[in-house]
Amino acid sequence: MKAWRAGRVLFGLVLLLPALALGQAAASDPASGDEGAVVESLLARMTLEEKLGQLTQSRGRGSDTGPRVPEGGEAQIRAGQIGSFLGVYGADYSRQMQQVAVEESRLGIPLLFAHDVIHGFRTTFPVPLAEAASFDLEAVENAARIAAVEATAHGLHWTFAPMVDIARDPRWGRIVEGAGEDPYLGSRMAEARVRGFQGTDLTAPDTLLATAKHFVAYGGAEGGRDYNTVDVSERTLHEVYLPPFKAAVAAGVQSIMPAFNEVAGVPMHAHRPLIETLLREQWGFDGVLVSDYNAVQELMQHGVAATRTDAAILGLEAGVDIDMVSGIYLEDVAEAVRDGRLDEALVDASVRRVLRAKYRLGLFDDPYRYSDPAREAAMTLTPAHREAARELARKSFVLLKNDGDTLPLSKRLRTVAVIGPLADDRRQMLGNWAAAGRPEDAVTPLDGIRAALGPDVRVLHAQGAEIDGDDVSGLDEAVRIARQADAVILMLGEDQEMSAEANNRTTLDLPDVQEELAQAVQATGKPVVAVLFGGRPLSVNWLHDNVPSILMAWFPGVEAGNALADVLFGDHAPSGKLPVTFPRNVGQVPIHYNHKNTGRPPDAEDKYTSKYLDVHWTPLYPFGHGLTYTRFRYDDLRVKTPRIGRGEAVDVEVTVTNAGGRAGDEVVQLYLRDDVASFTRPVKELRGFQRVTLQPGESRTLRFRLEPEAMALLDADLRPVVEPGTFTVFAGGSSAETSETTFEVVAD
Ligand code: GLC
Repeated sequence: MKAWRAGRVLFGLVLLLPALALGQAAASDPASGDEGAVVESLLARMTLEEKLGQLTQSRGRGSDTGPRVPEGGEAQIRAGQIGSFLGVYGADYSRQMQQVAVEESRLGIPLLFAHDVIHGFRTTFPVPLAEAASFDLEAVENAARIAAVEATAHGLHWTFAPMVDIARDPRWGRIVEGAGEDPYLGSRMAEARVRGFQGTDLTAPDTLLATAKHFVAYGGAEGGRDYNTVDVSERTLHEVYLPPFKAAVAAGVQSIMPAFNEVAGVPMHAHRPLIETLLREQWGFDGVLVSDYNAVQELMQHGVAATRTDAAILGLEAGVDIDMVSGIYLEDVAEAVRDGRLDEALVDASVRRVLRAKYRLGLFDDPYRYSDPAREAAMTLTPAHREAARELARKSFVLLKNDGDTLPLSKRLRTVAVIGPLADDRRQMLGNWAAAGRPEDAVTPLDGIRAALGPDVRVLHAQGAEIDGDDVSGLDEAVRIARQADAVILMLGEDQEMSAEANNRTTLDLPDVQEELAQAVQATGKPVVAVLFGGRPLSVNWLHDNVPSILMAWFPGVEAGNALADVLFGDHAPSGKLPVTFPRNVGQVPIHYNHKNTGRPPDAEDKYTSKYLDVHWTPLYPFGHGLTYTRFRYDDLRVKTPRIGRGEAVDVEVTVTNAGGRAGDEVVQLYLRDDVASFTRPVKELRGFQRVTLQPGESRTLRFRLEPEAMALLDADLRPVVEPGTFTVFAGGSSAETSETTFEVVAD
């Protein structure tokens, strides 16, 4: 029996006796019970080097036979110098490496295998921003659950997801990885994804440790430039950027990753107040903090550490438990502990949290439970997984415009032209951070349209232009086939490498000559609809002014083409809503729906109010916007109790009617404004949403319950408080189209 197993039995008994004697079962104390017994008995046996090994994460490398540990990795495992790997997976291979750790190292501590499973493992789902556009928490949770099932079948224990950074600047490429600009939607999506990844029993072999990242305010990077300085007020930090992390912690997330950026002069990887004081002490987070890539060492670049050892000390003192790939804890800490510059108790605290994570996954009971080739073969890219990806992709599409009900197109058209650089590109459909997704698995828009229309409809295709670049030699061919068609579907947008990490743009326009392509095709006079792909809002003003229908498809994942055909030809209606504001141009940034009113809100009749000379102050498309193939009417918005006490909840009802001729899904949104308060409040804040399916003519009364925390603001000490006064409630299918009513909170 391995040392830690024997120790556990003996140590557990020893630990248990006093507790039994005292008649107290300190079950809530993480240092007690079986978990504590295993962790403490191991810790007591570990050398300093072995402890630092547990705090070290190494990066895998690609090979012809799949991801592998780096050169020398096995020897390091055997020497107890590595606690986890990034990017190493495979049922058989993970078993092999786990055997080296468990059977050949001195203490036999199991490894953790981690990877960026962001929006699917092999079955690629729509990118996270698209998933957020579905406003369907159940479907988003299911997508994370499927990702976990597939990732764990390949030996993975841990994903570096969900990314929960609020993003108000679409120049920032990583806006694609999160849930957009709203803290309430971001919090609900964070909870759903944590639940999906972690399941209800972490010891089950199909559950992953989830990681809420990047703590915190990463989306506030100046200029929308990744990794750049963040300087936000304490109030904005607590009102906008922290809530999704708090929601993830409340949902039981087991890991958090600090952000690369500083916040107001303190790099997050050295931010003890936000990590130890707020996250751990105040919020009670007892999981692991894993650094971002090389980020502890980058404290030197930040200019707060002169040496690697100084950087490592700052990281450990701040509570960053694991160093990702720089080797700084393994190589540059031991001497500082021995000469007293770093208290070994801090190392022990981090090691405890890492061992606890391994315990919670059940790896001390069975270190090989995630390395099951049979599961790997059976659970990957199944028809059910593909169907779930297709359904979520459909729900993520946002119909931005549909003049004259041009969409849905008829399946009885004789000839359809599919034109544009994103019409037939498998890799693009997967989006960025596609984990083990494979382009050959992806259904392109052209594939999907051909499959949906069958052999009797002629489907013509021309790329017309590249995604970027100034080559216009393809325009003539595009025009030629457009002229032969009864309808033209343009497939335009960004390359998936134009968003996500380090992929920032100073413009939100369609890249390069794509607008010229659209103009040339539109000039043929044929009916034209546009489908947009991208990882951020796009300022498609010309399309908005000249093309009757525009569908935002983001990057829809492995079932892209089938989901698009389902919606374009009406088998399903689009139902997504924008999780981010679409500006008219980048000059409006930052622009978001939950803005403050200011002392001079925009007024076209008054020069001296907050607006631009050259562009209307409103966005091209607002947060929460999204059309469908029918119309919904909102009636009878009412508050059940127009006056409530400060600690009371209030029920709001609204009746929604499908006033059109087709069934449809509506995401009914509820917003709230504190009309007069001690601190300025947003003109409205999302406080609830419900997705409802209504048949033509059908009405349904929906009820929302607003608990006191929905009405709270942060007082001067940043503590939540509900102030007496009137509140305005808004309900509608977009943040910009709502009916409203009021209620009053009366002083006790
Ligand atoms: C990257 C990203 C982070 C990711 C990590 C591991 O730099 O910032 O989101 O999880 O490195 O790939």
